[in-house]
Amino acid sequence: MGTSLPWIVLKFGGTSVSSEPNWRHICEIVRQRRSTGARILIVHSALSGVTDRLEKLLEAALRGEHLQLLAALRQRHAELATSLGIAPQAERALEPWFNELAQLIDSIALIREVTEKSRARVMAMGELLATEIGACYLRSQGLEVAWLDARSVLRAEQREAASIKASYLSATCDFAPNAEAGAAVAAVGDVVITQGFIASDDTGDTVLLGRGGSDTSGAYFAALLAAQQLEIWTDVPGMFSANPRSMPTARQLLELTYDEAQEIATAGAKVLHPRCLLPVRQYGIPLFVYATQVPQLRGTRITAVPGSDAAQVKAICVKKGITLVSLESPGMWHQVGFLADVFQIFKKHGLSVDLVSTSETNVTVSLDPQANALDSAVLAQLQADLKPLCRADLIGPCASVSVVGRNIRSILHQLGGALELFAEQRIHLVSQAANDLNLTFVVDENQGDRLVEGLHELLIRPVRDDAVIGPTWERLFGSGRQVSETNVEPWWQLRRSALLELMQARDCAYVYDVATVLQRCTNLRSMKSLSRVSYAMKANSSPELLRVIHSSGLKIECVSIGEIDRAFEAIPALQAEEVLFTPNFAPREEYAAALARGVHVTLDNLHPLEHWPELFKGRSVFVRIDPGSGRGHHQHVRTGGIHSKFGVAQEDAARFAAAAQSAGATVVGLHAHAGSGVHDLDNWTRTARLLLALRETFPQVRVIDVGGGIGVPDRQGGSAFDMAGLDAALLALDFSTAGVELWMEPGRYVVAEAGVLLAKVTQTKTKGAAGYVGVATGMNSLIRPALYGAHHDIVNLSRLGETDDGIFDVVGPICETGDVLGHDRALPTTTVEGDILLIATTGAYGASMASHYNLRSPAEELLLR
Ligand code: LLP
Repeated sequence: MGTSLPWIVLKFGGTSVSSEPNWRHICEIVRQRRSTGARILIVHSALSGVTDRLEKLLEAALRGEHLQLLAALRQRHAELATSLGIAPQAERALEPWFNELAQLIDSIALIREVTEKSRARVMAMGELLATEIGACYLRSQGLEVAWLDARSVLRAEQREAASIKASYLSATCDFAPNAEAGAAVAAVGDVVITQGFIASDDTGDTVLLGRGGSDTSGAYFAALLAAQQLEIWTDVPGMFSANPRSMPTARQLLELTYDEAQEIATAGAKVLHPRCLLPVRQYGIPLFVYATQVPQLRGTRITAVPGSDAAQVKAICVKKGITLVSLESPGMWHQVGFLADVFQIFKKHGLSVDLVSTSETNVTVSLDPQANALDSAVLAQLQADLKPLCRADLIGPCASVSVVGRNIRSILHQLGGALELFAEQRIHLVSQAANDLNLTFVVDENQGDRLVEGLHELLIRPVRDDAVIGPTWERLFGSGRQVSETNVEPWWQLRRSALLELMQARDCAYVYDVATVLQRCTNLRSMKSLSRVSYAMKANSSPELLRVIHSSGLKIECVSIGEIDRAFEAIPALQAEEVLFTPNFAPREEYAAALARGVHVTLDNLHPLEHWPELFKGRSVFVRIDPGSGRGHHQHVRTGGIHSKFGVAQEDAARFAAAAQSAGATVVGLHAHAGSGVHDLDNWTRTARLLLALRETFPQVRVIDVGGGIGVPDRQGGSAFDMAGLDAALLALDFSTAGVELWMEPGRYVVAEAGVLLAKVTQTKTKGAAGYVGVATGMNSLIRPALYGAHHDIVNLSRLGETDDGIFDVVGPICETGDVLGHDRALPTTTVEGDILLIATTGAYGASMASHYNLRSPAEELLLR
């Protein structure tokens, strides 16, 4: 036994040790590490779910109803042992522990009381049992493994102020490298298996290390043994730039420093418990995070050395269930001891404060549910106690969204675009950590995920061969999202060869799939709440598509005389009654021409009625009302509020009614459109309610048009709009009883997903760490990325199925730096001149917003039937 051989500590979590395939991997991992000559200490958790079951067992014992649960626990362990082919040995090894557990539970049932001491002993059984199985299995595979009781090595520290509960259930241990502890482990063998989560105190009693305790055990052992490295094996291959389970575009983080990992773990990432970083950091032990089920994948390495010196955002983390306490008092400014008095009260209630922001009359603090038992009684009592000092308001539930990375201060300018996201909602609190590693925003809880997505999209910007930011979860594992209408295979995958054939004779083209358009029209036509659906043709005014859309029962909404002319030219059967004209700041002649054609006309200003009343005499008109606030995917497309040029302010409604009357016009329709690319259903129900209420001012109204704006997922796997939900919500408003028709006028929803922009690769290049793929058309065909920062998925259609192993900016040939169709896109490194790239979801506001800028013709439009 070479005593100078280094130790590697491997810690496996609950899911890692609960299945046969994972155990096969663990065995391989141990063998491989062992082959480097290192000694191995395996620290592992209880089987998944067992800790919870032990909690339940304790509760059941208090009622004397524990026998069934005890039997179920035996069963759970026996099943794993059977699947590992070690049933007889495991049964022998587990028997003494089950006997001890049964005795403990019996005595609890007898006295009907659980002391902290007996709770710790019972809870420790999960790890004791599981490691027995682990040892038996590894031995059955020919490894010489010694089993060690962690309590004989890990000793809890005496903490003066700690309660009995804390001493037993969330103990901390001394972890200074220690020859005695090292010798105790080494004495049992070169490959040792032991438990996470448990230790013992001075009197020999069992104590627990609290939440995340197994990670902490691993770190304690690594420090005590002065290990060469600590490896934490879990169910995700490392730390990610966001929670990959909810955001498949989250990227693997390849290198982090201890302090960054600590920030990410504290800011909400669950993969690593923040407490485990202290011991490894203190002794400079490298920490690796890997996934047991895919051991070949590179994970995250955490050391003291940054993977790159560049200022870089590494992760966007979210924590939910946050409560804010806003303390308001005009007298706090320069008042000595105000904060001390306030914090004394938080202390009295055992509440630990996380974030703090201060101004002259307000101090706002956040309470993290992970650190505090927050129930309404505690909070009410806190409020009452604070009353003599200040007014205390509770705000919640909130989410804290943290941007974590190195030198955050120096990337503040990049946040401009990201802050756009906050236009529609309140930020309750902003806090920037003095260590320059995080910037945190606290918003309403239901906004948390959306913010994470938006910030992630804008701020996580890997470069080629990035040493820190690795591949997306999607690329590692596929998106793994639920299949919905929009994330079944997109049509263009099925029609790939037809698309490639079309491109043999062209450099670029928009191609529209008629079947997809028809499908969207059918969805709209089947909405029971709507009397009429118009297609907002500004989204795409291709004559052939207009015919397809009209023939499937949609009417047409136009915004200019040019669109009206196009609609009548394209659709010979179109009746004037089927057209709604909704212009904005159009000249007098356009109104005159539209009225002469007999189409419905919407006014969104008093000017026409007051200055050209003769035009409207004896006419029926619609009025567009400003809903007061806008919605939508970008500031530029939100059409409500005083800073938007659209609509008549609600407070001017009566003035408008009077002007209409004196011009001799009748207001027969009320219209509103809050914005474009909206996913919240209440956008339309709110608008509908508002317009219904305005009928008092406009008694002759028979139509309410709630506008367009239905959002589509901007990437494969994104959630589809809840059409059925919208229909139900609108039906609930009961328009038919109100005696009015409900109209809608979506544009994007009808055509966006039906269209793709295809463009031939012209040139590729690298510049420093950046890689570029140039294509034959750019912002002259598709301006949305440049104008709104809009995302469109991009694939190399010629190389579909090849690994997207490179990261590139996809750019056009226009003389503007903004001529970028997609930043940081994963594409095959084999991409070459002549390949066809496909830019997805470009059927709406693509061709219709195209230009001849630089005298480059925009892509032609083709239909695929
Ligand atoms: N009705 C009115 C009065 C509108 O102003 C609009 C769009 C619509 C209906 C149709 O909205 P949709 O269902 O397509 O969202 N260029 C931007 C979109 C601008 C939308 C302007 N108005 C983009 O590319 O996202």
